[in-house]
Amino acid sequence: MASHKQIVDDAYKTPLQSHLSYKDKTAVVTGGARGIGLALARQVAELGGNVAVLDYLPQPDDEFHELEKVFGIKARYYRTDVTEKESLENSVAQVVEEFGRIDGCVAAAGIVYDAPFLEDTWESVTRAQMVNVVGTYFSAQLAARQMETQGTGGSIVLIASICAHQTLPTQHVSAYSASKGAVKALGHALAVELGPKNIRVNTISPGYIYTAMIEGVMEQFPSLAALMKEDPPLGRIGNRADIKGAVAYYLSDASSPPTTLAK
Ligand SMILES: NC(=O)c1ccc[n+]([C@@H]2O[C@H](COP(=O)([O-])OP(=O)(O)OC[C@H]3O[C@@H](n4cnc5c(N)ncnc54)[C@H](O)[C@@H]3O)[C@@H](O)[C@H]2O)c1
Repeated sequence: MASHKQIVDDAYKTPLQSHLSYKDKTAVVTGGARGIGLALARQVAELGGNVAVLDYLPQPDDEFHELEKVFGIKARYYRTDVTEKESLENSVAQVVEEFGRIDGCVAAAGIVYDAPFLEDTWESVTRAQMVNVVGTYFSAQLAARQMETQGTGGSIVLIASICAHQTLPTQHVSAYSASKGAVKALGHALAVELGPKNIRVNTISPGYIYTAMIEGVMEQFPSLAALMKEDPPLGRIGNRADIKGAVAYYLSDASSPPTTLAK
């Protein structure tokens, strides 16, 4: 049997590219019909992994349909509402049936809207928490249960937001910020609870990323749009390419090379 030192040395000396490979693995990406989620589904495919996208839009963007051909992987789309227990459970069960396993989960399904705190409504606030918090919670739970059943560990990435950390002047995103703060805290709790099962959990808080979600906000509020470009130290709004690498790192063995035998 290899010694502790040998296992750690082997992992250390393996080039990062090998640890990044997602070959023979499957990731579930919620909210992957478009925008950031689709970019992250593409990232999984680029690493050679299979990808199951769960989203409530009737169809994903055309780019999704290219993934299988371009990267030679398996990609399936499951129309799912992450706030509906039955819909989410059925989709995850189908993923397990069709892919045989779940190694990674990226919870990117989310909604945002602009409403001053003093005017916001019960319906809007609870909907935001249902999609962004409850949907994220149970997506992660179902994926983690499957990872535990497999006994092979896994990695879960929750997409929080810059709004979990700061708010720009003129932004009215109290419900969204509260939900993303909850996602961030959820990540801490899950990392502690699932770590002993070799399931890693991380959250990513993207800054302003140009997608359909942010496009709507920018069109509605030109002064806020200007701030979203000026506020980042790089002097530009982010784009989807800015966060793909972070998810590749957290999802794959690159963020935890397989040294678990070497305790
Ligand atoms: N764009 C940004 O600037 C930015 C910044 C920080 C965090 N985020 C977060 O990144 C994630 C993706 O955002 P995006 O900019 O790509 O937005 P987007 O609106 O383009 O994509 C969100 C996706 O989530 C899906 N979705 C919404 N409700 C759902 C539900 N109930 N069930 C299943 N799917 C549902 C939508 O159909 C859509 O495909 C969100 O969680 C968002 O909060 C975005």
